[in-house]
Amino acid sequence: MSAASQQLARVDAALTAARGALRSASDVESLRRAANEHTGKTSELATLKASIGSIDDVDAKRSIGRAINEALQAIDADVQSRIVELESADLDARMRSEAIDLTEHLGVRRRGHAHIVTQAWERLEDVFVGMGFRVAEGPEVETDFFNFTALNMPPSHPARSNFDTLFVDHGDPGSTLLRTHTSPVQIRVMREWDLPIYAVMPGRVFRRDTPDATHMPVFHQIEGLVIDKGITFAHLAGTIESFTKAFFGSDFTSRLRPSYFPFTEPSAEFDIRRADGRWIELGGCGMVHPNVLRAGGVDPDEYTGFAFGFGIDRMAKERHAVADLRDMYANDLRFVRQF
Ligand code: PHE
Repeated sequence: MSAASQQLARVDAALTAARGALRSASDVESLRRAANEHTGKTSELATLKASIGSIDDVDAKRSIGRAINEALQAIDADVQSRIVELESADLDARMRSEAIDLTEHLGVRRRGHAHIVTQAWERLEDVFVGMGFRVAEGPEVETDFFNFTALNMPPSHPARSNFDTLFVDHGDPGSTLLRTHTSPVQIRVMREWDLPIYAVMPGRVFRRDTPDATHMPVFHQIEGLVIDKGITFAHLAGTIESFTKAFFGSDFTSRLRPSYFPFTEPSAEFDIRRADGRWIELGGCGMVHPNVLRAGGVDPDEYTGFAFGFGIDRMAKERHAVADLRDMYANDLRFVRQF
C-alpha cells in the first residue's frame, strides 16, 4: 500500500471512530466532548492534517487534504443534527415527567353534584320564577350608601350597629364594605329596572361573626322585592304563604310576627311551621319604607311595595337536618356526598 493510500485509510478510520463516538453520546455535553476529542488539536485528524506538509506528491497532498476537510465537515454536520435530536428528546422527557395524567381516575366514574346550599339557591329561584319573579344579582363589595343610607339607615343610625360590618380598605374610611345583607340590591333594581318590579335577588353576604353551629361569617340570603300600584300587606302575607307551600310542601304553613327593620314599615319576622308542629324562624319582611322607594327613584305616592329577605343556608340546614352549619363548609367529602 502506498504512503498516500495509507494516509487516506487513516482519515477514513478516524471519521468512522468519530461518528461512533458521536452516536453513543447521550447528552449534549458528552457530544461536544466527543467532537472535541476527534477534531481537536490532539486528535488523529489534526495529526494527519499537520503531516500534509511533508508529502511531496502534489496530487496525493491535495486528495489527502480534501479527505481530511470532508471528514471534519461530516463530523460537524453530525454534531449539529445530533444536538437537535438530543434537545428534542430532552424536551419530550421533561414534558412527559411534568404532565398530569387526566385519565388516571376515569375508572372511578363518580358523578359530582351541586352543594346543598347551591341546590337550595337554585330551587328557590325556580319556585319564585314559577310565581312570576325575575332574578337579579348585585355586587358583594358594596358602598355604605347602598348597604345602609339608601335603606333608610343614615350615618349614625342605631340600626347600623345590628350589622357586624366588615369594612374594606378602599376609598374613604368606612365607605366600602362587604355587604351585610342582600337588601342593597333592592335599590339597584329599583334604579335600573322599569316598574312594576317582581324580583328575587340571591347572593352571598358577610358579617363579622365567630362561626358556630348556627352562624357563619359568610352566608347566603335571598331577597324579594315587589313594587306595583296598590300593593298591600295582604299581598306580602299571601306571597310568603304560597312560597312556603311551593318550596316546603303543602303540610307547611307560615306566620308573620311584628318586628322592626329601618327599611320596611310595617315590618315582620316570618316563621314556617313544619309538619311536626315545630316553628322555624326564616327571615324578615315588610312594606318598603317610603324613604327607600325615594332612594330607588320610585314615587311613594304612586307605588307601594313589599320586600323580604331570608337565609338560604338555614333552609338547606333545615331541609337536610344538618346539626352544625360549619359542617356545610368544612370541605369534607364524606359530608358533601350524603346529599
Ligand atoms: N335585610 C334583612 C336582614 O338581613 C332582612 C330583610 C329583608 C328584612 C327585606 C325586611 C325586608 O336581616
